[in-house]
Amino acid sequence: MDALKAILSRRAVREFTKQPVALEQLIKIADAGRHAMSARNQQPWHFIIVREPKTLTELGALCTTGRFVGGAPSAIVVLKDKGNQRWGDSDCAQAVQNMANAAWAMGLGTCWVGHFDGQKIAAILGVPDSWAVFTVLPFGSPAPSEIASRGPRLRPRAETVDSEHFGRPAVS
Ligand SMILES: Cc1cc2nc3c(=O)[nH]c(=O)nc-3n(C[C@H](O)[C@H](O)[C@H](O)COP(=O)(O)O)c2cc1C
Repeated sequence: MDALKAILSRRAVREFTKQPVALEQLIKIADAGRHAMSARNQQPWHFIIVREPKTLTELGALCTTGRFVGGAPSAIVVLKDKGNQRWGDSDCAQAVQNMANAAWAMGLGTCWVGHFDGQKIAAILGVPDSWAVFTVLPFGSPAPSEIASRGPRLRPRAETVDSEHFGRPAVS
């Protein structure tokens, strides 16, 4: 799938088939994260690929708004350099978006998890104190029911994209 098609068609995926995700695929997805823009090229991120079912179950239990992680065949835990106070969040967010789009282009889905017990997740994964858990991204083939039932979710272009001046829609 080309990049634009992947970006325009990607949806959050919270339910997955049981089909395993190869380590090589997850490394490609992490590479997409590594290639994100970052302020002053600090690359304040670190990625932990998880495919061990027991660990995925434990992570799911610690993801308050992402229990679905426990039902995924794989995940990538994104860590942020605690020393990068100014741009760490923006940079890691860009890495996440790159990974979501790359995964989608490879036929895999994910969903950002916003609320989790970062300290317990860090303890399970042996994360050093200089890193914070930024998010947990499950990865897997989307369950067929996931995408089929979705309605439109974007604010209209005419409300969000102007030309030359605020309030002058680029397309009416
Ligand atoms: C910063 C951020 C935090 C999010 N946190 C959660 C979450 O905790 N649980 C969840 O199910 N979805 C979460 N989402 C996914 C959004 O709900 C989803 O991306 C949004 O509804 C748009 O849907 P789409 O990704 O299919 O376009 C989060 C997304 C972002 C960008």
